[in-house]
Amino acid sequence: MEKSYINTISRFEGQVVRVMGWLSNKRSSGSIRFLLVRDGTGIIQAVVSRADVSTAVFELSDQLGQESSLEVQGLVRADRRAPGGYELVVSDITVFQLVQDYPITPKEHGTTFLMDRRHLWLRSSRQHAILKIRHGLITAARKFFDDRDFVLLDAPIFTPAACEGTTTLFETDYFGERAYLTQSGQLYMEAGAMAFGKVYCFGPTFRAEKSKTRRHLIEFWMIEPEVAYCDLEGDMELAEDFVAFIVEWILHHYQTELKVLERDIEPLEKVIKPFPRISYDEAVDILKQKGGSFEWGNDFGGGDETVLSQTFDRPVIIHRYPASVKAFYMKNDHQNPDLALCMDMLAPEGYGEIIGGGQREDDLGALVEKIKKHNLPMEAFDWYLDLRKYGTVPHAGFGLGIERTLSWICGLSHLRETIPFPRLIYRLKP
Ligand code: 4AD
Ligand code: MG
Repeated sequence: MEKSYINTISRFEGQVVRVMGWLSNKRSSGSIRFLLVRDGTGIIQAVVSRADVSTAVFELSDQLGQESSLEVQGLVRADRRAPGGYELVVSDITVFQLVQDYPITPKEHGTTFLMDRRHLWLRSSRQHAILKIRHGLITAARKFFDDRDFVLLDAPIFTPAACEGTTTLFETDYFGERAYLTQSGQLYMEAGAMAFGKVYCFGPTFRAEKSKTRRHLIEFWMIEPEVAYCDLEGDMELAEDFVAFIVEWILHHYQTELKVLERDIEPLEKVIKPFPRISYDEAVDILKQKGGSFEWGNDFGGGDETVLSQTFDRPVIIHRYPASVKAFYMKNDHQNPDLALCMDMLAPEGYGEIIGGGQREDDLGALVEKIKKHNLPMEAFDWYLDLRKYGTVPHAGFGLGIERTLSWICGLSHLRETIPFPRLIYRLKP
């Protein structure tokens, strides 16, 4: 007898198959028991009638608690009313484990309760939808760069130096030497761009963010392209194409999951090129017009980003921030050296920053000055300076945070559900 996964059950219409899974819910009516069985690929209703099965099997179906693991044998029958279009007419059940008091019931639970049981919570339909879209987002992101002949180059996790400022570094002992968990693969991608022209890395990055917000994880995943012979304009263009492609991909492949999440897809359908591009100065004007007390020269806070991102109906790119609020590696704008040739992309609907990047300082002398000015240890950057000694060229890149982007696309209110096992300031478990 064939074994089938639920998502491919239509191939077996009219045949008896075996489905292995877990009981997600059940109800009874007279001499019929309706078992909702999930197997990771989908959910199917298995109908147990007293007339069709042995007394032992019928009684067993009454004892099955939520999340009991089982194999159901039954006839595949088309039913227009069924969620996936099919149901199983059960002839036999084999139980792997009878479960009695699964803690996560269909009633409402608090977030702390659920987060403490994240290892079980992953089985719920909502978490399932989010994490399947996460899978799709990563597929799309990699496909985008692969199709454009970028080379995937993995960056190291242990690093000798800070990339994104020293306040969020995770320090660790590396055989008696000081090492840090990576904040970004960028510096290594710059080496990669000089070797391969167009590269990207995709991996976990770490920031000891001491504030508790809905937009910050301690461990998050970033995809970071870097391109040789590219300037800020080219970088913005690439970022715009990239985000438009990801949203289109998810709208095309994940309608069912977006429905489970009750995501209003109208705003996502508007995410088509061109995206508005404004300078930092223009962004400051918007904040002032909207009654904020923002002062030129500061970086935008979470609240400012919310306001800015609600101003436009699609992602907005903000470029040329004051160099003083940005990282050491950024190139200055020759038309106004107080500004950096950088850009952030803010997702709409109040979500805020999903991308940070820009054009890199490619001049050796200027880069040395910047490392000094930021009080960074020159020894840790000797290899990075080599890149400006041996064939330096204009180059640019960016990093897109997978979880921030997913949170926006799924319409979530907090980053904690966008990653299977989130690391938050007060959470290292499970
Ligand atoms: O703006 P950031 O700090 O830029 C960089 O790390 C650059 N070195 C990237 C590059 O140019 N290659 O971070 C990039 C993105 C942010 O826009 C955001 O989406 C995400 O990474 N991010 C976080 N996501 C979740 N939790 C955090 N604590 C994050 N910090 C940054
Ligand atoms: Mg940033």
